Amino acid sequence: MRIDVLTLFPEMFESVLGYSILSRARTRNIVDIALSNIRDFAEGDYRKVDDKPYGGGAGMVMMPGPVFDCLEHVRGLSPDEGRVILLTPQGRRLDQPMVRSLSAEKRLILIAGRYEGFDERIRDGLGAEQVSIGDYVLSGGELPAMVVIDSVVRLLEGALGDEDSAKDDSFSEGLLEYPHYTRPEEFRGMKVPGILLSGNHGKIAQWRREQAVERTKRRRPDLLEEAD
Ligand code: ADE
Repeated sequence: MRIDVLTLFPEMFESVLGYSILSRARTRNIVDIALSNIRDFAEGDYRKVDDKPYGGGAGMVMMPGPVFDCLEHVRGLSPDEGRVILLTPQGRRLDQPMVRSLSAEKRLILIAGRYEGFDERIRDGLGAEQVSIGDYVLSGGELPAMVVIDSVVRLLEGALGDEDSAKDDSFSEGLLEYPHYTRPEEFRGMKVPGILLSGNHGKIAQWRREQAVERTKRRRPDLLEEAD
């Protein structure tokens, strides 16, 4: 998969992309992530990317020109059309089914905005899908873009050490994940449930399923209504 990111702050991505699963997926060529700076497509000595809103009001608005020019340039970097996604709190909320569908794409193009908002012509004219990572407002689309990248890349074949390890994730079947334990068998008086030490794989699978349903019922009853 190829992921292009259009941002005013490419440096923000370096730490997240440089560690753990994402770093390994990049060195194994499972994903190619390319960062483009929207400011490189701004005009004038000051390379202005934002301006005051028409009609007045607080804050600055991202100008359409640099974003359009940057996207047109980025599109030409690879023959795949790509699914273009604009990160915005006004978008459709990201969930695991959407993550799964994004992970099936050959190419994603993520646009991270800053300032108070985008000029509406960016939404109207780019033909991008609008995606939100939740009902709260961040200072920009960079963290949401990183959330999309992390959640998508870990589903790509070979990205995780153990091929099964994404299968039981929370939300993968519309349920929260069952509880995990490792050594020691007893820690500060808290014991590992006996069933996990029994060696009976059928019983263990059944117990995990019950635990997943039980904790979903308690913590996220909204999920149960839609679960398989
Ligand atoms: N930009 C600012 N807040 C956001 C959010 N919650 N999701 C996506 N993009 C954003």
